[in-house]
Amino acid sequence: MSLWRFKMTYYTLAYWLTIRRRAARLACYTSSFMLKDILEQGQGAIDSALERLLPPATRRPESIHRAMRHSVFAGGKRLRPILCLEAARMVAGVLPAGVEDLGGALEMLHTYSLIHDDLPALDNDDLRRGQPTCHVVFGEALAILAGDALQTLAYEALSRLSCPAEARIRIIEETSHATGTEEGMIGGQVKDLEAERQVPDAQTLEYIHRSKTGALITASLVTGGLYAGGSEAETRCLREFGRSVGLAFQIVDDVLDVTQSSEQLGKTAGKDRASEKATYPALFGLEASLRQADDLVAAGCQVLDSFGPRAQTLKDLALFLIQRKS
Ligand code: IPE
Ligand code: IPE
Ligand code: MG
Ligand code: MG
Ligand code: MG
Repeated sequence: MSLWRFKMTYYTLAYWLTIRRRAARLACYTSSFMLKDILEQGQGAIDSALERLLPPATRRPESIHRAMRHSVFAGGKRLRPILCLEAARMVAGVLPAGVEDLGGALEMLHTYSLIHDDLPALDNDDLRRGQPTCHVVFGEALAILAGDALQTLAYEALSRLSCPAEARIRIIEETSHATGTEEGMIGGQVKDLEAERQVPDAQTLEYIHRSKTGALITASLVTGGLYAGGSEAETRCLREFGRSVGLAFQIVDDVLDVTQSSEQLGKTAGKDRASEKATYPALFGLEASLRQADDLVAAGCQVLDSFGPRAQTLKDLALFLIQRKS
């Protein structure tokens, strides 16, 4: 057997063992049979809100509206808005009217971050959500502007939310801070780029992941709670839960980059290693990375115990986030 074949067999076996051990570790969690419905209904509600909030492709200037729609409707999982909706439902007991517009605004912010993340100057990716990236189809200038436009449109939608003015202002503060430079999405993206081809320490890596991805996930949960009129104590719990699942989400994104195909992911697999990105599997290995993600979710779910049975959907979603395959 050649050395290469021996190495591949070894890695395949080691990964298979990791999967088996992980299944045993997570077996104590029961995932509600309702989760599939929650995901489908959430995606439907968010897609309708986005359809209403985005200008039609036929409106002048058509090119920018086509570019925005290309990326928004390419088929994302809509996980941030779904977390937002379910946080609001948990706090209010029912889904508050109009919360889909908040979810739609969060998805616009997320999609803007993806369009810019894929640009040649950042990760230089040509596949996203199973489609050619925005700059590949529309050119770099329009892709930059489409990202910018989704960001401004998101804040227009937030300023019109149907909740009390005080909550609206807190929601805008929360989302702008979470996407900004101080422990927010842009700050994380900057450090992510600066850490390429370096060997990062665990602290820097955690900062990158919490900021570039965890912050918007946390804001999705916190703003859902604020929209529903949550108390300070409820907001604190949602923030703590968000910090745990947000970091776990990006750890799993790193793992999927190594373990899944481009077809499965709808984005280029193996990109992190090719760009020598700072990732959890690169620093800790696959098994320890997945263990950290699982432990984070277990700790996050415990924080929600104070909400009683109403927290079950968010707990199920947290488990889904770390078991997803794309
Ligand atoms: C991808 O996020 C980018 C990260 C922050 C890791 P998602 O995995 O939620 O991507 P979509 O929205 O489903 O395309
Ligand atoms: C992207 O992280 C985070 C943001 C878009 C803010 P990645 O660069 O790992 O995301 P993917 O893997 O391209 O989706
Ligand atoms: Mg990136
Ligand atoms: Mg990327
Ligand atoms: Mg990634």
